[in-house]
Amino acid sequence: MHSFIFYIFLVWLSCLSDLTVMCYKIPEVKLEVLQNGFRVSIPHEPGIENVAFNINRNRPFKAFEPGEYSNRIRTQINNLWFLETQRRLQDDDTIYVWTDVQFNKSRYRDISTPIAVSHALRGQASQSGASTIPPMIAVSQVPQSVNEIAPTTTTEEPPAIDQRNDKCEPSLTTIHNRKVCRGQLIFEENFDGDQLDASRWRYEVRLPLDIADAEFVLYDTNAELSNGLLKIEPRLWGNDSPNADIQKGDLNLGARCTAYQNPEVECQRHSFGRVVLPPVLSARINTKHAFSFKYGRVEVRAKLPQGDWLFPLLLLEPLVNYYGQQPYASGQMRIAFLRSNLNLQTGSGVEVGGRVLHGGAVLCAESNNRDKFMVNTSRGAHFGESFHIYSLTWNDRLLRLDVDGQNYGTVEGGYAQIVNDFNNAWANGNYMAPFDQEFFITLGVAAGGHGDFPDEYSSKPWVNSSPKAALYFWRDRHNWKSTWISPALQVDYVRAYAI
Ligand SMILES: *[C@@H]1O[C@H](CO)[C@@H](O)[C@H](O)[C@H]1NC(C)=O
Ligand SMILES: *[C@@H]1O[C@H](CO)[C@@H](O)[C@H](O)[C@H]1NC(C)=O
Repeated sequence: MHSFIFYIFLVWLSCLSDLTVMCYKIPEVKLEVLQNGFRVSIPHEPGIENVAFNINRNRPFKAFEPGEYSNRIRTQINNLWFLETQRRLQDDDTIYVWTDVQFNKSRYRDISTPIAVSHALRGQASQSGASTIPPMIAVSQVPQSVNEIAPTTTTEEPPAIDQRNDKCEPSLTTIHNRKVCRGQLIFEENFDGDQLDASRWRYEVRLPLDIADAEFVLYDTNAELSNGLLKIEPRLWGNDSPNADIQKGDLNLGARCTAYQNPEVECQRHSFGRVVLPPVLSARINTKHAFSFKYGRVEVRAKLPQGDWLFPLLLLEPLVNYYGQQPYASGQMRIAFLRSNLNLQTGSGVEVGGRVLHGGAVLCAESNNRDKFMVNTSRGAHFGESFHIYSLTWNDRLLRLDVDGQNYGTVEGGYAQIVNDFNNAWANGNYMAPFDQEFFITLGVAAGGHGDFPDEYSSKPWVNSSPKAALYFWRDRHNWKSTWISPALQVDYVRAYAI
């Protein structure tokens, strides 16, 4: 009893002393497009003494470094800390901001999710006249007189950041239990050069045959790098060997095979009867040997595949299957997920194809329950029509999903209370279990499979429980082949930040 009370006391003490470190969080920076420039801002809170904004146009920050526009603001106006510049923005610009806030004698820093100007501008692309105030300003809390107030920012201020004053802010993120500094760029891949950097990425070479997914593909070394992009383009088996017959063939991946869970079935296949060779050749790469982390933010700028029954793999996968070997017992996070069909409807007519973006967690193998821990957002156009920045923020309370700097949902933790499978192993972890372990990054493209297309979807040519699923998928190719107008996943960059 005594030691218990003492423990409470200790916890209370450490909370008190941590208060200034733990209790202020820099809010999301808001971008507003003005008639002759733009403004970034955060709301005031009692305790904020000054705020420095560091802004880049179309160039991500690699560290807490001075930006194209940087200034420290000494005064808040009408409960707002803001920096205005005269720079006019283009619709396809992306604004990168990091903020440094002096709060009750401590300094806090945060790199914001990139902000797409097209979103800040939405609904006002055709401004009615030069003298009208854009709606963005009208709805914001900033008084319109703000432009008449003497600017609080002057060019005489020293640069926002003096490297000598840099100190490492504590971060939630760890890498192999090592601490890193908050805001630090902990992984960056721009896919420059003409080959995958083997010190970061490895190909999976296998015939997926796990009971949960068993995508209808052969993952092989089928990725290309060119013009600063990673390109993974799924191809039909027949493209490479025109005479190949997936019903009559042998495939032995030999020493190249990387399967480690089911090597007996994932490294070779002899087709007979309902057992066929995979109809699609694709690729899947990961950072398992090179980079994994716990908690952080991952950003991927990518163009997702378009084509029926394809889906992109932009995943965080568990480094060790800490909570067991059953499918998804140790969880999977999806930075972005799309059923890439040009049109796809549920039995009741709800559109679920490439115009619906999903992100979040997969905690169940069963296809009808896969979306339970994912959030989604719909658009008028297929997400694969253009590049977007997909982002997943993973902390010890929730997963947050963004596209082009716009939040489209969060998935709260507490899964041990909600999912009763896996012998409740997660109850031994923390609130985020199974997402309280290290995860690595996976990129790839898959087709079909037994997990991600529920049977109720209309015009689906296979049934998930059927041993002949891949064969039925293949036999239906006259229906889906022509929809593969842009089947490749193209990735411009992948970045991970400590939070
Ligand atoms: C910070 O300082 C303000 C003003 O002195 C005070 O009201 C507030 O409680 C302080 N906040 C924290 C978290 O210490
Ligand atoms: C998107 O999310 C909403 C809210 O959770 C859900 O009702 C809907 O079924 C989801 N849509 C799709 C296409 O998954």
